[in-house]
Amino acid sequence: MGDRFADKRVFLTGAASGIGRSVALRLASEGGTIFGVDIDEAGLAETARAVEAAGGAMSWAGGDLRTRSGCFEAVERAVGELGSLDVVGNIAGVNRFHNFLEMPEEDWNLLVAVNLGAVAFVCQAAIPHLLKTSGNIVNLASVAGLMGQAYTVAYCASKGGVIQLTRALAMEYVKTGLRINAIAPAGVDTAMNVDIAFPEDIDWKLMKPYMGHRGLATADEVSGLFAFLASEDARPVHGAVWTADFGVTAG
Ligand SMILES: NC(=O)c1ccc[n+]([C@@H]2O[C@H](COP(=O)([O-])OP(=O)(O)OC[C@H]3O[C@@H](n4cnc5c(N)ncnc54)[C@H](O)[C@@H]3O)[C@@H](O)[C@H]2O)c1
Repeated sequence: MGDRFADKRVFLTGAASGIGRSVALRLASEGGTIFGVDIDEAGLAETARAVEAAGGAMSWAGGDLRTRSGCFEAVERAVGELGSLDVVGNIAGVNRFHNFLEMPEEDWNLLVAVNLGAVAFVCQAAIPHLLKTSGNIVNLASVAGLMGQAYTVAYCASKGGVIQLTRALAMEYVKTGLRINAIAPAGVDTAMNVDIAFPEDIDWKLMKPYMGHRGLATADEVSGLFAFLASEDARPVHGAVWTADFGVTAG
């Protein structure tokens, strides 16, 4: 691994698991100092142990990102710990499958709050710090934000929102040194895809377009792309939505 993140201060949401854990490991392995936040404290502690075992540095705080105050608190805590911010990764996310007519209000509110609200409020809290360092933001969107996926109205709506939030902020800050980009994976081999509660009468033919032909990506493959986008190698990349979907959205 290189040292593209030497002296870089990295704030990651969702660092307790899956893609967030892999990004923490990857950026730390390239010299980054990591601050992770997640609702799952045991998972965060495990990520920090893995980062440290590999010779890296990571601190963390448990936190629920469903509210604006939770997001601001997490970012301020990170800045207090790290001193400044160079990279922000909005990675925390949740999914639920429903027949739309049976979607509970609480699930809609949860997905919109975690997948979209937290991205907006972490950006609001972090951008003043990132402007000082000409830093950058990478948001975890999904192909579900680019194409309609049956049984996941709330997830698709929230991820479509992340993509437009990314583009809107890219335009608003286009004259500054800040960069903001999104990654849109199809299926990734993480806890999010284990023990999914599908509606009983699901029509699997409707799900086919999202399954693709080449299986799931690994979290490490996604974190490799994250590391590229967050590094100086991607200096001209701003306002982009990078798919990592084995061609699912190409057709
Ligand atoms: N796994 C996939 O197939 C896939 C595909 C496309 C996009 N994504 C996106 O990638 C991101 C990472 O997902 P993953 O696959 O690593 O799943 P994951 O379930 O392994 O990780 C998600 C993390 O978000 C955290 N989280 C959930 N609610 C939270 C809250 N209220 N406050 C703070 N943290 C919270 C969880 O505790 C967990 O550690 C998500 O945004 C997800 O939507 C995943």
